[in-house]
Amino acid sequence: MALWIVLFLGVFGLRWQVSCETSKYDNHTLISIYPHTEAQLKVVTQFHDPENAVEILKASRGLNDSLDVLVPPNRVGYVQHYAKQSNLLLKVRQKNYGRLLEPVERMPRRRILRPFSVSEYNSFSAIQDYLENVARRHSDIVKLQTLGTSYQGRLMKLVKISTNPNAGNPIIFVDAGIHAREWVAPAMALYIIHRLTNDPEARQKDLNGVDWYILPVVNPDGYEYTRSSRNNRMWRKTRSKNANCYGVDGNRNYGFKWAVSGISKNPCDKETYAGPKPFSEPETQMVRNIMMENAKRLKLYVSVHSYGQYLVYPWGYTGDFLPKEWKKLDSLARAVSDAVKRAGGKPFRVMSAGKWYPAAGGSDDFAFGAVGVPYSYTMELTDGYEFVFPERLLTNVLPQFYEGFRVFGTQIRNEFRV
Ligand SMILES: *[C@@H]1O[C@H](CO)[C@@H](O)[C@H](O)[C@H]1NC(C)=O
Ligand SMILES: *[C@@H]1O[C@H](CO)[C@@H](O)[C@H](O)[C@H]1NC(C)=O
Ligand SMILES: [Zn+2]
Repeated sequence: MALWIVLFLGVFGLRWQVSCETSKYDNHTLISIYPHTEAQLKVVTQFHDPENAVEILKASRGLNDSLDVLVPPNRVGYVQHYAKQSNLLLKVRQKNYGRLLEPVERMPRRRILRPFSVSEYNSFSAIQDYLENVARRHSDIVKLQTLGTSYQGRLMKLVKISTNPNAGNPIIFVDAGIHAREWVAPAMALYIIHRLTNDPEARQKDLNGVDWYILPVVNPDGYEYTRSSRNNRMWRKTRSKNANCYGVDGNRNYGFKWAVSGISKNPCDKETYAGPKPFSEPETQMVRNIMMENAKRLKLYVSVHSYGQYLVYPWGYTGDFLPKEWKKLDSLARAVSDAVKRAGGKPFRVMSAGKWYPAAGGSDDFAFGAVGVPYSYTMELTDGYEFVFPERLLTNVLPQFYEGFRVFGTQIRNEFRV
């Protein structure tokens, strides 16, 4: 009997291990396509795989800026043909892409042995515990506001950091993680919380006359889904059910110029399904509510994403014209980029979001166009590792990016302080 159990566990254990080591991405190829003329750029931003099997990791936002796609073995021919037809430069960046993905299982296990660190990728529940701890330890400056629950019932909390909540200070609102696979974004949001509460200099300077509202994981269901297995690591959308498919692209779901450009109407589209209607998702409703409730004091909104190292401002829905205030948006973005560069980081590519890649229903357009937030940005962190930015490098880049957030803070203080 005992022998049977041992044998059974042995076989079962082996199976389990093997299934953890492979993923559907094992034989996928990472391909970059480079447009070199404006005509090619137009072609590239229209890229579409009729079989919905090629996964678009990053759209191109300029000349010689790559369109990155993850291609299953049976679609490599299609992509090569597509590039050849338009005379586009194609680079095979990585074969067998999925074999490089780190196994996800090690993370929860390790958690038991080590204390929470903001320089790691954490589970949503560990993040929740951390936020509760921060609020308890720094109850003089931190308040948590419960917003409601995600589609699958995860409790979402807004972190409000202020040395004087009754002063009517201008508010900076930072959200992250609307796209599930962009793990570096929630890590950045947590790092900002960490610095603002723990670093005496940041407490003194960066909280002076400015309140910071931070929502570190806008799409917790998607985030946990990407953590559940390597097969799900590239998931982008929420996890609501529409027709026979899952998920809405939260960053196409906002109710400003909804669905006019750069979206899919197909619920099974992996990337840009705009949803059945504007604000169909509880997650985007919560962000909208934060903006509306604080509309008067909200002076800067930053939605943190990855990757590509872009810092872009409205309009996202069109590349045909810019808002009349575009120079202010542009020069603040450049100052932020310079600060990151001075701190040893890579500068951002600064432009209007829709210049080459119009896409409607983004949170930055909603903040700027519908709520009237004077400064509104989408920030795409890191370059060169797609969505799998190595955990060990977080300790380098998060402090560099933080210097950019300080510049945001200084501008809002100087321009709007009461
Ligand atoms: C990848 O290719 C190898 C070798 O051809 C094959 O054995 C394996 O089943 C493939 N994996 C997937 C997930 O398709
Ligand atoms: C375009 O980008 C690729 C990859 O980054 C680089 O190798 C190439 O030199 C660039 N070409 C031009 C014309 O800038
Ligand atoms: Zn994103």
